[in-house]
Amino acid sequence: MKWIKRILLTLVLIALVLVGGVWAWGAVILARDYSAEVRDVSAANDPGAAERGERVATLAGCYAGCHGRDMAGAVFVETPLLDRIIAPNLSTAAAVFTDAELESIIRQGIRPDGRSVIAMPSASFSSMTDRDFADLLAFLRQYPAGEGGVEGRSRYGLLARGLLAAGIVEPEASRPREQPWRSREGDDGERLGRYLALNACSECHGLDFSGSPDFAPPLTIAKSYSSDDFLRLMATCKGLGDRDLGVMSVVCEHRFKVLQPNEIDALHAFLQTL
Ligand code: HEC
Repeated sequence: MKWIKRILLTLVLIALVLVGGVWAWGAVILARDYSAEVRDVSAANDPGAAERGERVATLAGCYAGCHGRDMAGAVFVETPLLDRIIAPNLSTAAAVFTDAELESIIRQGIRPDGRSVIAMPSASFSSMTDRDFADLLAFLRQYPAGEGGVEGRSRYGLLARGLLAAGIVEPEASRPREQPWRSREGDDGERLGRYLALNACSECHGLDFSGSPDFAPPLTIAKSYSSDDFLRLMATCKGLGDRDLGVMSVVCEHRFKVLQPNEIDALHAFLQTL
C-alpha cells in the first residue's frame, strides 16, 4: 500500500509542478513589456467625420461586431479554465484613454502600461490610414456611453495561459504588422482591395489570408467566385449555391453591408491575385 501512496503523491507533485509552470510561463508572457511608437493622431473634427468613422468601425468590427452591437462590450467566454475573456465597453475606453493611447492599443496592440492586448486583432488594423483612424476616433468619442455594459478587463485562466505558453495564441503586439498606409486609395483596385482585406477579413482569414486552422478557409477560395458571384456573396451573405456560411454570414450581415460597390470590386480584384 505504501508504494501506491508514493506513486500517487509523486503524480500529484508532477501535476502541481506542471500547472505551476504553465501558470508562471503564461504570467511571464502576459507581463512582457512592449514600447509603442509615438504617433501623432487625433480625432477628426471636420463635418462628416463621425459618420465616416462609423463605417470604419463597422467594417473593422468594433461596432456591431466583437464589442457588442452598441459597443457596450461583450463577454467571449467565462469558464473556470479560461477564466473571463471580454471585449470591453468602448465608450468607457474612449472616456479613459487619450487619442494616442487608443492609437497604440488599436493599431499597435500595446496598452498604456506597456502590456500587449490579447485576442484583440490589432495586427489587422496596423495598416489603417491616419485618416480612417482619425474618423474612427471621432466616432468613438461621440458615441454615448453604453449602459449596463461589460466593464473590467480580461482575466486569463490556466487554459488561456497554456495556449499562450504553447504559442497557439500570441500576444497581439508580437505579431507581424504593417506601418499605417499613407492613403487607402491606390492607383488600382487591387491596392484598395488589399487594404480592405487587411482591415476587415484578416482577423479570421489570417494576416497573409492563408486561413486559420479549423476555423476560416484561405481566401484563395474567393477565386471560385466571379465578380457577380462575389457581389451576390456580399449582398446576400450566402455562399455559392445559396449556402449559409455560419460565422461568415453573421459578420457579413453586421459589417460588410457598409462596403460600397467599388470597394467590393476592389476586394474581388485583390482576392484574385492570391
Ligand atoms: C469573424 C470572422 C470572419 C471575418 C471577419 C471574415 N470571414 Fe470569411 N469566413 C469566415 C468563416 C468561419 C468561413 C467559413 C464558413 C463556412 O464554410 O461555413 C468564411 C468563409 C469565407 C468565404 C468562403 C465562402 C464559401 O464559398 O465557402 C469567403 C469567400 C470569405 N469568407 C470571404 C471573406 C471576406 C472577403 C472577408 C472580409 C471582407 C471575410 N471573409 C471576413 C470567417 C470570417
